[in-house]
Amino acid sequence: MTHQIAVEDADISFTCNDGETILVAAERAGYTMPYSCRKGVCASCEGFLSKGDVKQRLKEITGPSGKVLFCTAIAKSDLTIRPRRIQRHDPLARKKIQARVFRMSRPADDVAILQLRFPASIRAKFKAGQYLRIRTPDGDERSFSMANAPQESDGVQLHIRHVPGGAFSEKVLASLQLDDKLEVELPFGDFHLREDDQARYVFVATGTGFAPLKSIIDDMIRRRLNLEAQFYWGGRSRADLYLAETCEKWAKRYPWFTFVPVLSEPDANWKGRHGLVHAAVLEDLPDLSDRHVYACGNPMMIVAARTEFKTRGGLHSDRFYADAFVASGSSDTNQLQVLQAVE
Ligand SMILES: Cc1cc2nc3c(=O)[nH]c(=O)nc-3n(C[C@H](O)[C@H](O)[C@H](O)COP(=O)(O)OP(=O)(O)OC[C@H]3O[C@@H](n4cnc5c(N)ncnc54)[C@H](O)[C@@H]3O)c2cc1C
Ligand code: FES
Repeated sequence: MTHQIAVEDADISFTCNDGETILVAAERAGYTMPYSCRKGVCASCEGFLSKGDVKQRLKEITGPSGKVLFCTAIAKSDLTIRPRRIQRHDPLARKKIQARVFRMSRPADDVAILQLRFPASIRAKFKAGQYLRIRTPDGDERSFSMANAPQESDGVQLHIRHVPGGAFSEKVLASLQLDDKLEVELPFGDFHLREDDQARYVFVATGTGFAPLKSIIDDMIRRRLNLEAQFYWGGRSRADLYLAETCEKWAKRYPWFTFVPVLSEPDANWKGRHGLVHAAVLEDLPDLSDRHVYACGNPMMIVAARTEFKTRGGLHSDRFYADAFVASGSSDTNQLQVLQAVE
C-alpha cells in the first residue's frame, strides 16, 4: 500500500511505498534531504512530523512530533512532514570514479591511510566533512569520509579502521597494491561546517572519526577562517590518536585552534586527560549554549554526546551535527544489535 507524503509550506509531495523509509521515498522522487548514517543513529535527518502516523523501528509516532528520523521512519498513513531541508537532487553533483591507489600507510596497528588519485582530467567537488562510497568486490558498498581538504580535488585521503572480518578494511585492504583501481562515488552526507563568523566550534571525535574533522580543519586553515575551534579527540590508548602530532602542530601554529587528547585506558606514563571524550568536553565547557558541536566516530559516543550536551550543557538541538560510523554494508546482521545498544 502506498501513502502520500506532503511537505509543509512547500509545493512538494511524493508517494511512499510499503516498507520504504521517508528518506528513500523522497530520494526516489528526485529530492535530497539531510542525512548521514542512514541507520537512525546520528540524527542528521531529524525533522518534524506535522500530521499522520509513522513506525520508527520499534516505536509508533503520531504527528505533530518533532523527533522523527526520516531515514528509519516508515509511513503508516498519508503524512505531512517538515524536514530541515528538501531540494531537487542535482544528478551532476555526484560522480562515480575509477580511482587509483596512490599511497598506503599504517599510522597505527588498526588504522590504514589510503590515498586515491583520480584520472588526470577528473576532479570531484565535495564539502569538507563529507564521505564517499567505495565498491567492494561483491558489489556492495562501504562508506568512508574524505580526510583531505576539498581544495585537493584530484584525489582523496581515507582513514580506515580495521574491522575484524571486514570485507573492505580486512580483506580488500590486505591484498591492495599500488596502482590498483577502486570504484568510488562521491560526495555524500550532511556533515560539513555551517560557517558563521560568530560561531564557536567544538569538534569531538573517537578514532578514525578524526578523518572528516581533519578535512574540515585543513579547509579552515587554507581559507584562513580564524574561527574558534576546540578539538577533543578520544581513544583508548595513545596509539588510537594516530595523527596527534599533526593536531599538536596546528594548536601551536593557530591561536584559534586548541587540541585536547583524551584517553579512556591510558598507560601509567600518560599525563593528559583521562576518561570519556564527551565527558571531558562537559568538564571544560559546562555551558554549551553558545557552541556549535560536530561529533564523529563511535555511535555510542555520538548518542551520549548528543543527549548529555543538550540536557546538561544546554546545547541547542540545531547546533549538533554528527557522523556516526556505523557499519555501512547493505546486508549487515550485527547492525540491529549495534543500534539497540545505543538506544
Ligand atoms: C557516513 C559514514 C562515514 C564513515 N566513515 C568512516 C571513516 O572515515 N573511517 C572508518 O574507519 N570508518 C568509517 N565508517 C564506518 C565504516 O563504513 C564501516 O565500519 C564499514 O562497515 C567497514 O567496512 P568493512 O567492509 O571493513 O566491514 P564490514 O564487512 O562492513 O563489517 C564486518 C562486520 O563488522 C561489523 N561492523 C562494521 N563496522 C562496524 C562499526 N563501525 N561498528 C560496529 N560494528 C561494525 C559489521 O556489522 C559486520 O558484522 C563510516 C560510516 C558511515 C556511515
Ligand atoms: S541519517 Fe538518520 S539518523 Fe543518521
